[in-house]
Amino acid sequence: MTKLCLPILVALLSFSTVITAQIFGLNGQLFTRGLAIIDSPAPSSTLHAGSTVGIAVDISGDGHLPASAATPGTKDSTRFDSLEIYFVSFPNSINLTVSGPDANLLGQEAGSTVKHVNYNISSCVPAGQYNLSFYEVSHISDQQFFIISNIPVEIQNTNQQGGCNNTNALDGSPQIDDAPSQSPWLLTADGTTSIAASPTATGKSGAVRFETSYVASVLSLLALIYALTSW
Ligand SMILES: *[C@@H]1O[C@H](CO)[C@@H](O)[C@H](O)[C@H]1NC(C)=O
Ligand SMILES: *[C@@H]1O[C@H](CO)[C@@H](O)[C@H](O)[C@H]1NC(C)=O
Ligand SMILES: *[C@@H]1O[C@H](CO)[C@@H](O)[C@H](O)[C@H]1NC(C)=O
Ligand SMILES: *[C@@H]1O[C@H](CO)[C@@H](O)[C@H](O)[C@H]1NC(C)=O
Repeated sequence: MTKLCLPILVALLSFSTVITAQIFGLNGQLFTRGLAIIDSPAPSSTLHAGSTVGIAVDISGDGHLPASAATPGTKDSTRFDSLEIYFVSFPNSINLTVSGPDANLLGQEAGSTVKHVNYNISSCVPAGQYNLSFYEVSHISDQQFFIISNIPVEIQNTNQQGGCNNTNALDGSPQIDDAPSQSPWLLTADGTTSIAASPTATGKSGAVRFETSYVASVLSLLALIYALTSW
């Protein structure tokens, strides 16, 4: 019995929690490839025009980052530079600001490690598939990254009124970011998905991350085979 538990757990953690190739779901949180951890909304949520959507982002790296890391102008080697949020739909050709540069999301709710946006989805917003797109610029161990995290959601609107007049220009798809291969908070020596200690990574962190995700895949595959054959 105990012989089975660990491999099954490793296999489950490694396979069942992948939301997209780039965002990892663990214990109800979405680990982006950047510093941000998205607490809500959940992927594939159904939202309604005329209602409010609650957005919550953990900026503490699940407790590994000091508050200074989200303070503008900080010299911390691992830090947020900016975090913006948009509703984007390519099918609907629309790009709406949820929390732009002026909103200064990181500077809101001083002392809170979770930042919230309650966004009213206007009745002008057409129904369809959207990405709730997080644009993060961060330094991780002094290296600058630009990370785009798309949470797919559906917006329903049975009573669309008017056209939205406060939209942004929509760039071509897909946009290119420059992100680590996985969340810095999911690194461990043995390639499992437990939360790592704060990133003390050296210049080799990129390579370590790549290697770790490769090792994780091989490990989980072996674990799954082991679990199935010992059943
Ligand atoms: C969401 O973003 C992905 C990646 O850029 C893109 O392929 C997809 O079409 C987007 N979805 C919508 C509904 O715009
Ligand atoms: C959001 O919509 C609700 C209901 O229409 C309204 O009471 C509230 O003031 C709106 N909030 C903002 C920030 O516009
Ligand atoms: C959009 O149009 C509505 C209704 O005509 C108006 O109240 C609102 O101020 C406009 N918003 C912008 C950003 O122009
Ligand atoms: C949406 O608009 C924002 C603000 O103009 C821009 O930074 C972002 O690149 C746009 N996204 C897309 C997919 O066009």
